[in-house]
Amino acid sequence: MVNALSGCNEYSANVQQIALFQKYGPLGIKVVGKDFFARSWLDRIRVYVSVFIAVIFRCKSFDFKPMLELAKCKVEEINQVHNEMTIDSPLAKTYLASGAVFKSWNGNKGFSESSKFQRWAMSSLSPEWNAQFKEGLQINYSNGISTTTSLSSDNISCSYLNVQKLPLTISLSEENQLLTDSLSWIETHRNDIKEQLTCHGAVLFRGLAVKSPADFAGVVEAALGKKPLDYRGGEGSRDKVEEGVYTSTKAPSNFTIPLHHELSCTRNPPANICFYCDVEPAEGTGQTTLGSTHRITEAIKNDPVLWYQFKGKKIKYISRHPPQGSMFNRINKTHKTWQEVFETNDKQEVERICQKKKFAYKWDGDWIEVTRLAPATRTDSKRNAYWHNQAHLYDANPRLRGGWVNHILANIVYCRPSTRMYDVEFQDGTKIPRTDFYKIYDILDKETVKFDWKKGDVLIIDNKSSKGAMHGRASYEGERRILTSMVM
Ligand SMILES: [Fe+2]
Repeated sequence: MVNALSGCNEYSANVQQIALFQKYGPLGIKVVGKDFFARSWLDRIRVYVSVFIAVIFRCKSFDFKPMLELAKCKVEEINQVHNEMTIDSPLAKTYLASGAVFKSWNGNKGFSESSKFQRWAMSSLSPEWNAQFKEGLQINYSNGISTTTSLSSDNISCSYLNVQKLPLTISLSEENQLLTDSLSWIETHRNDIKEQLTCHGAVLFRGLAVKSPADFAGVVEAALGKKPLDYRGGEGSRDKVEEGVYTSTKAPSNFTIPLHHELSCTRNPPANICFYCDVEPAEGTGQTTLGSTHRITEAIKNDPVLWYQFKGKKIKYISRHPPQGSMFNRINKTHKTWQEVFETNDKQEVERICQKKKFAYKWDGDWIEVTRLAPATRTDSKRNAYWHNQAHLYDANPRLRGGWVNHILANIVYCRPSTRMYDVEFQDGTKIPRTDFYKIYDILDKETVKFDWKKGDVLIIDNKSSKGAMHGRASYEGERRILTSMVM
């Protein structure tokens, strides 16, 4: 049954569309004609014709039966998946209940009793119901839900760890315990892996015999066919481990890093960012969080004022870096010195890197101010705009800094504007309202999914395309060592 649901985002799209149908379908009909029934063109035509007739006759005698028959199938499929997941989850209960409602409607042979729909739809609009649905998206499958892809075989199994199907997990059997075997399998299947990456936004390799940073770099090269990039000029607080491999972040363990696209503050961000779990964090903490670029774009578009505030504009990212030994770097490890950022002590080399990457720069004594200009949204091959920026990580606000106490303390340390770590504004110098950032955090929080790291896991994320994924980091306690590599 689960295999019947496999395919690009079909399952999560169905979950969303079922919810929208339940919310608006019987009354507003505003979603049913668009994406709800993607099963075949014939089904779509039936729905379009039904909706057209319904609109003409103002729903007075609209027959929902053809739609509901299909909806019932979808609900039953979803129920089954959720039964396998956990029968007690709020989402499963919601869908089981909605399955019963659909069945009762279907038994009525025609749906002219609009008052019945109105009553039910009104009840479905309750905040509790919506909250349940949103919470449900965060539910993880305890043991993964298996699926079949072009990579599946006797030695390879594929599965999903959460409702959003992000990432696709590719598990290698114990027969692939030698890294050379794994690498040769990955190289042979590179095209299929890339196809799944495009389809799902991220893939997670589990069971590879990766034991060192060099092994990790080998996996990245085998999967993507390119050598990992150097991170010189990057803003993240990373230490170089070896060529093309860095520690993931020095942000304090109690901090949560919101979802973002890596280096989207630059003109040409990396196509992929990859992570490797060297030291597994405590269970249920320290996850590298993920969110679908497409879903987040759609959620932001649902607030047109917010969307058009950013769409097609450019963002100016300003960062200031002290010299080695500065008090600012000692107090705040994430405030990198320019020697750390550019991996050199030579100011002329710093200038060469800035010119090559088209960063504007200005020396202020031993400090450097670097300004990067990058689009707030990018366009895909069909010229559709999608969300691709990290402005929300450059605004010094209490929410990003983890509360008012941290915010006030940081404002004391950074009381002089010339030492401020970051500033962000639109290209024309207009300030970005903090309320916009808070709306963005809300959307990102709702779309965030997590999975627990296992030692040796390798995660590859599509960082750049409209079907890719954003990443972040959950807070943690104790040890955690996740390494990262990027590929252009
Ligand atoms: Fe990042």
